[in-house]
Amino acid sequence: MNIELLNQAAATVQTKWPDLAEVKGGVVLGSGWGPVADALEPFDSLPYSEIPGFGATGVEGHRGVLQLARIGSSTIMVFQGRRHWYEGAGWTPIAVPVFILKKLGASILMLTNAAGGIRPELKPGSLMAIEDHINLIGANPLTGPHSQVWGPQFPDQSKVYDPRLLDLLADAAQRHAIPLARGVYLASSGPSYETPAEIRAFQKLGADAVGMSTVPEAILANASGMRIAAISCITNYAAGVASTPLSHEEVTGTATKAMPTMQTLIRAFWEAVCREEK
Ligand code: HPA
Repeated sequence: MNIELLNQAAATVQTKWPDLAEVKGGVVLGSGWGPVADALEPFDSLPYSEIPGFGATGVEGHRGVLQLARIGSSTIMVFQGRRHWYEGAGWTPIAVPVFILKKLGASILMLTNAAGGIRPELKPGSLMAIEDHINLIGANPLTGPHSQVWGPQFPDQSKVYDPRLLDLLADAAQRHAIPLARGVYLASSGPSYETPAEIRAFQKLGADAVGMSTVPEAILANASGMRIAAISCITNYAAGVASTPLSHEEVTGTATKAMPTMQTLIRAFWEAVCREEK
């Protein structure tokens, strides 16, 4: 990971917005989640292409723009589009949002993704709050020379997903009558989808949903002491759970249908966070 580039990324954001009021937190909008940004009513933006180390997102449906939103008196950074390990550009682009947020003093990170449902009741269109994860990417973003930037060399991971934020998410869902499951997210490296045999194995390991992201950012943010909330939109049955083949079009199509619900939930969550943290 290139810490020098990460410092440049944070400096670029600080130069662009020198008078930024307190940044409470940030949200990374993954596959299919992009339009959730509109519900947070962003008032300014900076393309990823202008942020050193970020580069352009190489995945269709990921816009690649950092936006600022205000909830009450708090500022929220909205990263519309994410970089993935399977894009082959290393850990630096994946670390950029977490690093910027940390440098600006933000304490809360929300991660969103599209995932395949392994637990049978997680039907396409359902939402799942992530309680814990299994890292099967085959790599860890903290690998390499230890940098104090990310906290201790061997960070504890017994509570990566903050229980209070999970409660706030559940409360927000209940208030708006949005069904919200809870479960374990397993990250595989991608970019190929899994085989049915892999999904059967993942089920035995205790996974409820599978995707290709989120865990690296969660590892970094947890190591650096941030509080994390994460949520999956189940966009398809995982391979072999149903007989239909998987496609990126299905993934983004399902998320689009669930969009009004996703927008309501994320907005309500941040309002609750900003109220509580005032
Ligand atoms: N597998 C991996 N990643 C995914 C899936 C899936 O089934 N759906 C959306 N992202």
